[in-house]
Amino acid sequence: MKKTTLSLVVGLWAVLLVATAAAQDVDLTVTDKDLETEESMWNLYKWWCSVYYASSSSRDLADVESRFEAFKANARHVNEFNKKEGMTYRLGLNQFSDMTFEEFAGKFTGGRTGSIAGDLRDGAVTYCKPPAVGYVPPSWNWTKYGVVTPVKNQLTCGSCWAFSVAAAVESINMIRTGNLLTLSEQQILDCSGAGDCNGGYPYDAFDYVIKTGISLDNRGNPPYYPPYENQKQKCRFDPRKPPFVKIDGECLVPSGNETALKLAVLSQPVSVVITISDEFRSYRGGVFRGPCGSNPNVDNHVVLVVGYGVTTDNIKYWIIKNSWGKTWGEYGYIRMERDILNKNGICGITTWAICPLKNKPRLASADAAAAVAAY
Ligand SMILES: *[C@@H]1O[C@H](CO)[C@@H](O)[C@H](O)[C@H]1NC(C)=O
Ligand SMILES: *[C@@H]1O[C@H](CO)[C@@H](O)[C@H](O)[C@H]1NC(C)=O
Repeated sequence: MKKTTLSLVVGLWAVLLVATAAAQDVDLTVTDKDLETEESMWNLYKWWCSVYYASSSSRDLADVESRFEAFKANARHVNEFNKKEGMTYRLGLNQFSDMTFEEFAGKFTGGRTGSIAGDLRDGAVTYCKPPAVGYVPPSWNWTKYGVVTPVKNQLTCGSCWAFSVAAAVESINMIRTGNLLTLSEQQILDCSGAGDCNGGYPYDAFDYVIKTGISLDNRGNPPYYPPYENQKQKCRFDPRKPPFVKIDGECLVPSGNETALKLAVLSQPVSVVITISDEFRSYRGGVFRGPCGSNPNVDNHVVLVVGYGVTTDNIKYWIIKNSWGKTWGEYGYIRMERDILNKNGICGITTWAICPLKNKPRLASADAAAAVAAY
């Protein structure tokens, strides 16, 4: 094995540059033939590396052999799962396929809900009022209306909470002002006090946006906040240097009620916390119906609901934007079953659903307005 490992390592660098651009379009299925021998497995792994090596940061070249062990287990799981009859979704290899689930969950999830629970006990949380909608369409997809920024990538930091919060603010800002701005997750991570790379509290992060605002993501020129760095740094936000985007409030969608969540989503994309599983990690496409995670301390993940719909087989789903890049799932999105028997919804989706509220643009100065308009 030593010799093959070395040639793999050398070969990898040659393919790195050409491979990444196409990763989201490559469908790495696992056939029985791939699983037949150690050698066929190794070939599959080499192919996987050529596609995903650069887009995944779990790789440690010294560690190729233990990565290969985890990869084999995942490849077998994908193959077995996709053979099952009557499934509404399928699995695939993706950038996480050379990690055990425990390693994965330690890096790529990270939602916390404790402080909302505390606020609920204190009565400090505002509940969303049901929006006054007359006609409720059978499907809705905010992405079609240009109010959702492209899928981002939290990399190996458990900052999903910051990504979900920024994404929700980006969307409500577009809906209210007509400007689709890309906002800084790094600022939320560094400055909000709501969490770190081991997880965070979305409700508290929205609080920060109400009080302070978020800068735009770096486009090469100050005063934009430095681009995402995959780790928490000291806060570099400068309130004297707009533009930044503020919100006017936040509210919690009443939990245990998928109808309430649907009406909220009809008003705007909504930040939600879900518990995720090994199958969620390897989701490739279709309508995800569980299993969900069972340990909220480890499995909490924060994402953004951007719409809902129903398949031609009459399976209802939520449309969810994730923050694991475009190579995961359906171009970075997942559809999860909607209107299930459990009133909390799939993977607890109704439990901690939060809407940022925005009335009208609140910019720091006329200069800021001009800067945003020119952006
Ligand atoms: C939502 O709309 C986007 C943009 O039109 C489209 O690419 C995507 O497939 C839609 N999602 C669903 C689940 O219909
Ligand atoms: C769920 O929410 C809807 C919409 O706000 C409301 O009409 C309905 O009464 C709620 N159901 C329950 C059981 O609270």
